[in-house]
Amino acid sequence: MSTPAPSPAANHVPPRHIGIIRDGNGRWAAAKGLPRLEGHRRGAERLIEVIDACIDDGVSMLTVFAFSAENWKRPLDEVSGLFKLGEWILRAHLSRLEKRKVRLRVIGDMTGVPEFVRRPLEDVMKSSRDNTAFTLVVALNYGARQEMAAAAQALAADVAAGRLAPEKVDWPAVEARLQTAGMPDPDLIIRTSGEFRLSNFLLLQSAYAEIVFTSVFWPDFDKAQLRLALAEYAKRERRFGQTREQLPPSALR
Ligand code: IPE
Ligand code: IPE
Ligand code: MG
Repeated sequence: MSTPAPSPAANHVPPRHIGIIRDGNGRWAAAKGLPRLEGHRRGAERLIEVIDACIDDGVSMLTVFAFSAENWKRPLDEVSGLFKLGEWILRAHLSRLEKRKVRLRVIGDMTGVPEFVRRPLEDVMKSSRDNTAFTLVVALNYGARQEMAAAAQALAADVAAGRLAPEKVDWPAVEARLQTAGMPDPDLIIRTSGEFRLSNFLLLQSAYAEIVFTSVFWPDFDKAQLRLALAEYAKRERRFGQTREQLPPSALR
């Protein structure tokens, strides 16, 4: 991947790339006596607000965990409801995304995604390819371990075919075969709903990400909540293995 060397001063500017593990839709709904799917619907609408806030605050990439490779284990009606919702939200807000020059990318195993969602996603990926203002990455049927295994398969195939020497299998070679190839690593990972785990999200890419956990359920995560997370991020000192004394003054809190 083409990630430039991480800058120790990076936390004094907005994170270039934010990853969001949007969680708590079901509990938000249960607390209000509503069906789980209503929590997912409100959560999907929140995403549009958060994209706007990211653009306004100078963030250039947002990866949102929409559906994990493990979420297939949920009841069938919830799974199908989630995909229907995904298709609806894309259609309902497409013109807004176009107006704001959002580029759409998807990571995850698209072959497992129902065609009525895959097709419009592919269309928008194609039509938004030249947008540079902001990139929305949807992690759909995504799992970091599955991504790593696929990269290992690709490496093994290249080695077996004699295209790659085993001793040339280094981090850049792995990175180039991940689904995020060409994307900058996330600087900030936000997880909502009070859970303190990564649930198979961007495990390798988050090696040096700052992580912010908030107890707020995703359907309540608004612009103000994003600003709180950004303020928390700005307080962090990113050292990337160096000592404090080695950091440029601009990187110190
Ligand atoms: C996040 O909310 C959405 C997805 C994982 C698809 P949840 O549906 O996981 O909500 P909780 O964790 O049950 O509250
Ligand atoms: C992670 O949330 C997946 C998404 C946000 C899409 P989960 O609700 O599936 O995570 P666990 O099962 O609580 O770890
Ligand atoms: Mg959950």
